[in-house]
Amino acid sequence: MSAMAMNVHGFAKCKASARKISMVTCYDYWSAQIINKTDVDCILVGDSLAMVMHGFDSTVHATIEMMVMHVSAVRRGAPSKFIIGDMPFLSCSKGLEVAMDGVQALMQAGVNSVKVEGDAHQIPIIRHIVEAGVPVMGHIGLMPQSIHGLGGHKVQGRGDKAERLLMSAMELANAGCFGIVLECVPTEVAACISQKIDIPTIGIGAGPQADGQVLVLQDLLGANPDFKPKFLRTYADSHGVVVDALNRFHAEVVAEEFPSSKESYR
Ligand code: KIV
Repeated sequence: MSAMAMNVHGFAKCKASARKISMVTCYDYWSAQIINKTDVDCILVGDSLAMVMHGFDSTVHATIEMMVMHVSAVRRGAPSKFIIGDMPFLSCSKGLEVAMDGVQALMQAGVNSVKVEGDAHQIPIIRHIVEAGVPVMGHIGLMPQSIHGLGGHKVQGRGDKAERLLMSAMELANAGCFGIVLECVPTEVAACISQKIDIPTIGIGAGPQADGQVLVLQDLLGANPDFKPKFLRTYADSHGVVVDALNRFHAEVVAEEFPSSKESYR
């Protein structure tokens, strides 16, 4: 099945008809304009922007102000896509008012829904956001905002931790989430969770049986040739293409081949 105008019910419809969901991250107007012309179902303005766009070493550095700035740029570039915006580090752990101020800021910047990282301790706030009429996507497994507590980027839910992950997924579904990101989870565990809950799972490093897949745009476009996690498939060599274009531009400037008379005003 190709393009469809996604909304929150579209996620449930996809799950019901076993149609996989595609999601990519996007942080800026320029790439949002490109994604807007593609079949990709939805956009995640992820807090990974702290790393990809701002060069920090973790998502802990994302703030609500950064999220709002990037969301509004993405919304201007992709007016017709369903956008999910990340609630950044600690924004859901400082009380209801701070969380709801964050939700309001993201909604007014242009998201259609928010994503909240975390399990049991986020349930009350997730319920509250959902009851306020804002769709929430959960995010469990590897939770980059908790990277220090988790002790690094490790696969989650192995062995006897699988049951706990399933319970978390069920709690998130019961709290009203319309979907759940499963990050770096063994294939069998993601498959079991996807079978047992009635909302779609969107996997990253969670195998083929999740109900959808998400990748960071720059990763799938091959922007960083040194980043090669097991779960990543690259669909382009954007690093090579850009380096080559810039080197050709430089060479032609130095050789006085650019601009030509055709590219100059008389
Ligand atoms: O911030 C992000 O990019 C994410 C994806 C990895 C799911 O949360």
